[in-house]
Amino acid sequence: MPRNGTGEIPPPLEIECLKILWTLGEANVKDVRQALTERRNLAYTTVMTVLDRLARKGRVARRKVGRSFMYEPVLSREQFEGGVAAVAEFKDYLNHIISRRLRDAAHDPAEILSTLIGASAFAGESAQGEQLSKLELIHNCIFLLNAGHETTTNLIGNAVDLLIRHPQAMHDLRGHPEAIETAVEEFLRMESSNQLGNRRAGKDTMLGSFAVAAGSYVHIGIGAANRDPAQFPEPDRLDIRREANRHLAFGTGIHACAGMSLARMEAQVAIGRLLARFVRIEPAGTPLRGNRARFRGFKAYPVSFRRYVA
Ligand code: HEM
Repeated sequence: MPRNGTGEIPPPLEIECLKILWTLGEANVKDVRQALTERRNLAYTTVMTVLDRLARKGRVARRKVGRSFMYEPVLSREQFEGGVAAVAEFKDYLNHIISRRLRDAAHDPAEILSTLIGASAFAGESAQGEQLSKLELIHNCIFLLNAGHETTTNLIGNAVDLLIRHPQAMHDLRGHPEAIETAVEEFLRMESSNQLGNRRAGKDTMLGSFAVAAGSYVHIGIGAANRDPAQFPEPDRLDIRREANRHLAFGTGIHACAGMSLARMEAQVAIGRLLARFVRIEPAGTPLRGNRARFRGFKAYPVSFRRYVA
């Protein structure tokens, strides 16, 4: 997918965003994070659409999987058991639709699930090269849903927070919507929604002056790297036109984020449309941080909006 400017944004994403924004009344106090990400849920709807365009059932199970606290280092018993149950339910659902696709030989090239089924061991002669087992296929679907849901939800929430804390930047971006691409890169840099990266050393390695023994786990502070003064002049300053913004919000190398174009596009549409629709966006209560180790974002962010008067 190309790194989109507004002209290339596919209409369905824009329409979904407009529908969500339309439901926000004038000067009402709403939770902006919920509005754009939870209630009608732009990030969730988008990732589900690319994953599985046909299925409309199993929504509840999929929503639960999306909140299963994956990747948290410490879980309560309730979170753990809820997550395990949601994953089991979602696996049943995926098994069901995979069987249906195989039975009907339905293939939609625009849909990731169809493509993954086509690359699986049980897809028959059509599968080329390295093939996925059924378990791998199912877990890739679950991974995709999680990878593309909470991260983008938080990117949109963090962007609104940054703009509220920097009214001059909000004013500037509203007057110059063409700056949305560099602005979203800056939001990604300053408030990376995924704060941690992980690697395991395949062999003895020197990282700068540190010796990393083969087999060691390495946890990388993405948020810290993105504020490195050696890489970013005035790293704590929000600059919506920052150029040469080589942030690591999407990781790097062979395993760099597979959904980065989609995430960028969603944030560009959501923030661009929000600013175009509302002349005033102000806090209306105390934001509640998520306090997660890996995912940086908010549990709630009450905001008041005022629409443009025609
Ligand atoms: C703001 C939104 C997002 C952020 C900050 C983010 C961040 C990341 C990061 C840091 C990684 C690890 C990269 C590495 O290890 O070097 C990753 C991997 C991945 N992401 Fe994202 N991501 C986002 C959205 C998405 C979306 C929308 C999708 C799919 C719809 C997605 C799918 C993936 C996949 C499949 C991988 C694994 C790639 C691999 O291991 O080869 N991500 N992402």
